[in-house]
Amino acid sequence: MEHIMLIYTVTGALLLFIAARILHYRLCTHPLATFPGPKFAAATFLYEFYYDIVKRGMFIWEIERMHEKYVRINPRELHIKDPYFYEEIHAGPSKRRARDPKYAVAFGAPYSLVATIGHDHHRLRRSFLSNFFSKRSVTSLTPVIHEKVDKLIQRFENSFNDSTVLHLQLDFAALTADVITHYCYGWARGYLDDADSSKSNDLVDAVNGLMTMFHINRFFPFLIKCLLSLPRALVRRIQPCMADLFDMKARLRQQAKETLEKKNTIQTKAEPGNNIFDAMTGPGVPEVEKSLDRLEDEGALLLGAGTETTARALAVSMFHVISNKKIGMKLRDELRTVMVSPLSKASWLELEQLPYLTGVVNEGLRLSHGMTTRLARISTHDPIYYKDWVIPPGTPISQSNYFVHMDESLFPEPHKFDPERWLRSTKNGEHLSRFIVSFTKGSRQCLGINLAYAEIYLTLAHVVRRFDFELHETTIEDIRVYRDMGIGCPKKGFFDVQAKVNAILEH
Ligand code: HEM
Repeated sequence: MEHIMLIYTVTGALLLFIAARILHYRLCTHPLATFPGPKFAAATFLYEFYYDIVKRGMFIWEIERMHEKYVRINPRELHIKDPYFYEEIHAGPSKRRARDPKYAVAFGAPYSLVATIGHDHHRLRRSFLSNFFSKRSVTSLTPVIHEKVDKLIQRFENSFNDSTVLHLQLDFAALTADVITHYCYGWARGYLDDADSSKSNDLVDAVNGLMTMFHINRFFPFLIKCLLSLPRALVRRIQPCMADLFDMKARLRQQAKETLEKKNTIQTKAEPGNNIFDAMTGPGVPEVEKSLDRLEDEGALLLGAGTETTARALAVSMFHVISNKKIGMKLRDELRTVMVSPLSKASWLELEQLPYLTGVVNEGLRLSHGMTTRLARISTHDPIYYKDWVIPPGTPISQSNYFVHMDESLFPEPHKFDPERWLRSTKNGEHLSRFIVSFTKGSRQCLGINLAYAEIYLTLAHVVRRFDFELHETTIEDIRVYRDMGIGCPKKGFFDVQAKVNAILEH
């Protein structure tokens, strides 16, 4: 008995000693010790844990509150809430920026581009795909986007005839998923052909599943590995949305395997440009980059990243176009200048020139935010200078997109969907578009930015020119950011915009 007491006492004393050493280091000798931050946040990750895990995605509001005085938001990270500093954090290729490893794992695809930590490694991997997503490549894809938009329009016509309720986020996700599968693999998955895909979409479910786990994955990176090793039926019981993600990844793995086997058996000379797996296994790509894990994860990233975000920006714009009749009418009046009848077609190039439509697109991107989470960058070699501070190399530095988009000095009445602000800013010679950071900035900016713009312009223009909608059981609370789960989530459930087609326009 005495022995046991002794063991307990020694272990307790040892633990206390270690905790005291850690606290002393974090508060007194850590390179960030002189940066202002609440002691509790600087000393332990429990603050962030409580708000992001226990209270589910609420740490973002604590950061906002802290910013009246502080920048050190946890023992190792600085958050700088200053939109003019965003481009220094998310710098271009001339400045080396690594991803924060703590975040890399949260995307659920550890071998993908977005999870690649080192600057040079990321640059290499990005080079395999960048031609695929250049403005030129996307422009040559626009016939495919038009074809999918036509299918979406057909779906909306059917909905009008059958008086059904649309879930616009899912309808747009069906379109973006078909575009991205067509683009990446040369065949479309056919979400738009499903009779009733308005009720669910496994890609959206997969993204939602990942986002449910986003902060958990950050704090407990081993959990996702454990889940992956469990039988799928069990995962479906514990965490149904994650099962969708794993199913999708398994399908992609199979496809990647077939591509590799085809190459190996037929000994074909790889011709980059056929599909993304071809591009990623082409002759110039080092062997180590051609593993099945890599191909599976990159495929999952492209499908996940290319589907939900674009659909969300579209759904936000549509919500406001429907709920504010004046905006809808103005937009339609402008569209008439390039689309004489509701059945007319306009090109991406023509639509990009329209100032009011551009205002609607920008507001949709601004208020959907891309990701709301911090996407910290690390300058591995050089210090970063901000005001009087010298931020030591190796420090994760972040700034959530949300704070840039909601900055009142740039966007007065930031919650207001106001396409006119973009017309006013052009007239005043301001470059407000610099502060649309939904795709982030710099060398790690979203790779699909051109594709996203093409889809958004073409879809919005053709849908708004053709239909009049009314909202159904949807208010602003269903799309406003209440939690940061990687992407912004409303207070209850997932982001959703329900609507009915009021009329098919004749003129
Ligand atoms: C409105 C639509 C979209 C938004 C708001 C968006 C937003 C983002 C954001 C916030 C990131 C993280 C960037 C960072 O860490 O700094 C990202 C990365 C990425 N996105 Fe998008 N995205 C959109 C559409 C697309 C599309 C259509 C694709 C098509 C394939 C795509 C592919 C990617 C890829 C591959 C990355 C990783 C880039 C890298 O790490 O170099 N995204 N996106």
